[in-house]
Amino acid sequence: MNVLEVSSLWKTYEGASPYTALEDVSLNVAKGEFVGIMGPSGSGKSTLLNVVSTVDQPSRGTVRVDGVDPHGLGDEKLAEFRRRKMGFVFQDFNLVHTLTVEENIILPLALDGWPAEKSRARAQELARDLGIASILGKRTHEISGGQAQRVAIALAVAANPSLLLADEPTGSLDSASTGQVMHLLSDMNRAGATLLMVTHEPLVASYCSRVLVLQDGRIYLEINRGASQKEFHQRIIDAMNQLGGVEHDIA
Ligand SMILES: Nc1ncnc2c1ncn2[C@@H]1O[C@H](COP(=O)(O)OP(=O)(O)OP(=O)(O)O)[C@@H](O)[C@H]1O
Ligand SMILES: [Mg+2]
Repeated sequence: MNVLEVSSLWKTYEGASPYTALEDVSLNVAKGEFVGIMGPSGSGKSTLLNVVSTVDQPSRGTVRVDGVDPHGLGDEKLAEFRRRKMGFVFQDFNLVHTLTVEENIILPLALDGWPAEKSRARAQELARDLGIASILGKRTHEISGGQAQRVAIALAVAANPSLLLADEPTGSLDSASTGQVMHLLSDMNRAGATLLMVTHEPLVASYCSRVLVLQDGRIYLEINRGASQKEFHQRIIDAMNQLGGVEHDIA
């Protein structure tokens, strides 16, 4: 069963000089898959996630999540659909700054009718897994960028969504926190969650079951994991080198 079906998706940003960021992109993500999206800067990765998540509208083509086209839903149904079916980890975090970290994690659960005790227990469990238990009582303007990113992940996964969409979920994390986050995402995936994740980092992508590489708004290459994560990691590095897309640290 496919949790996500993207068919012949096109996205043109209109304006003084229109720009086509996605050209005829089709992909399916089956239940339980963990799919990575890679590609050079500007290749359309965030555009794809934004159109799938309904942050942005497609110009042509369709998106289906659990068989439903979310772009065809009215506002109220869409809000419920997004809350129940999709989790989002995006670069601007979506945190409510007047609430504490714990309240931020609990808010979507409360909106969905979870009893208070159950949602508090869930927030505490996730905070332990993500190494943010000590900041649960802080307001989100009092925490670091890396902590905010982990709070955003806790919030996104709290309700066990059918589809988790993540745009650079480890983008501002050090390697220890990146490891924690990737283990959490892998555990969720093993427990049955379906994930679509954009990343620049080959090591992060090597946790996926499959990687799609975008170039100039098209799917250029698909790399399947196979048995060994280490060998998969190397094949991802090789593919990105071929594209000239790996960013090297500048001394
Ligand atoms: N709102 C917008 N209006 C016009 N053009 C846009 C808009 N958003 C993105 N673009 C253009 O569309 C292309 C794809 O952008 P997108 O953000 O999807 O790239 P990306 O692969 O996520 O890159 P990065 O790795 O830098 O995050 C880029 O050329 C970008 O300049
Ligand atoms: Mg992007």
